[in-house]
Amino acid sequence: MRIGLIGTGRIGTFHAGVLERYREVGSLVVTDAEPERAAALADRIGATAAPSVDDLFKWGVDALVITAATSAHAELIGRAARAGLPVFCEKPIALDLPGTLAALHEVRAAGTVLQLGFQRRFDAGYTAAREAVRAGRLGRLHTVRALTSDPAPPPAAYLPLSGGLYRDCLVHDFDALRWVTGREVVEVYAAGSDAGPAMFRDAGDVDTAAVVLTLDDGTLATATATRCNGAGYDVRMELSGELDTVVVGLDDRTPVASTEPDGPPAADKPWPGFLERFAPAYEAELKAFVDVVRGARDNPCDGWEALAALRVAEACEVSRRERRVVRVEEIAGGR
Ligand SMILES: NC(=O)c1ccc[n+]([C@@H]2O[C@H](COP(=O)([O-])OP(=O)(O)OC[C@H]3O[C@@H](n4cnc5c(N)ncnc54)[C@H](O)[C@@H]3O)[C@@H](O)[C@H]2O)c1
Repeated sequence: MRIGLIGTGRIGTFHAGVLERYREVGSLVVTDAEPERAAALADRIGATAAPSVDDLFKWGVDALVITAATSAHAELIGRAARAGLPVFCEKPIALDLPGTLAALHEVRAAGTVLQLGFQRRFDAGYTAAREAVRAGRLGRLHTVRALTSDPAPPPAAYLPLSGGLYRDCLVHDFDALRWVTGREVVEVYAAGSDAGPAMFRDAGDVDTAAVVLTLDDGTLATATATRCNGAGYDVRMELSGELDTVVVGLDDRTPVASTEPDGPPAADKPWPGFLERFAPAYEAELKAFVDVVRGARDNPCDGWEALAALRVAEACEVSRRERRVVRVEEIAGGR
């Protein structure tokens, strides 16, 4: 099959390298708003570069992978749907709910496939936690603690295009929370702090956030995120029930140091970032997409799943701004 990839930045470069290795992908055509970036990548990995998005559509592909900046996703999803193309798109679909819903309705009207890039659904640790919860091995689940800590802020230019910490970063934790527990979030209270680097204040964003979430069966969860975690890239989920507790993301690369005299040693090679920590999961989600395009499996994460996680992020933004508990049903876009 011939796959087109739009957006050859950080994640697009990684995904292109993965796709190029799959034997089902006969040819890969890459493009970017900065064509020289796409050309350089194509040279490096043996793909073909199209000079523009228009050219890529004109040349014709069997499926599309969208890894451009978030602000470009919704329009590209709509365009691909109208062309009848299956799409893998990095999260999120759009920076706001109207844009997200418009793209989803185009996909529904066209009857095409849209798979979203929530790679934690393909991570071994999250998958095992889901199995433990679903098999009842933890007993009644009462508490979930989720966290995503980036080692350093992204470039300042990324912030205004990102949608902010809840939509850009914590949205992964919200999706994982729903996917692992099989429950819906009904209520959130979110706080955020912009006491760190000034670029967050300038962008109207926060560098650190904490959220309390109530699930529809009464399970309580917390989710925290920061862009300023000097110890390294730390993504964990701790799930406690009446019978047992399991922890996702706890290994000899977890960037934490015990203060106990006989505690475990600090990681000597802490995870540096998402590309290293989640490399196998990114590879597996793209393999799944190739299989979806071949008709060999069902879509593992459609756009409506992404909408559900985005509505929780939107509720957090309202909660932070208005300093109050927000019910997710207050946010438009329920099915
Ligand atoms: N799933 C994950 O863990 C994960 C991790 C990182 C990024 N992402 C998502 O991937 C997307 C890209 O992030 P990134 O970190 O690679 O950003 P980036 O800034 O490194 O790269 C974005 C690229 O898109 C190009 N671009 C922008 N608008 C375009 C358009 N209209 N047409 C074609 N190309 C265009 C830019 O020139 C740039 O090369 C974002 O939506 C982000 O949320 C997801």
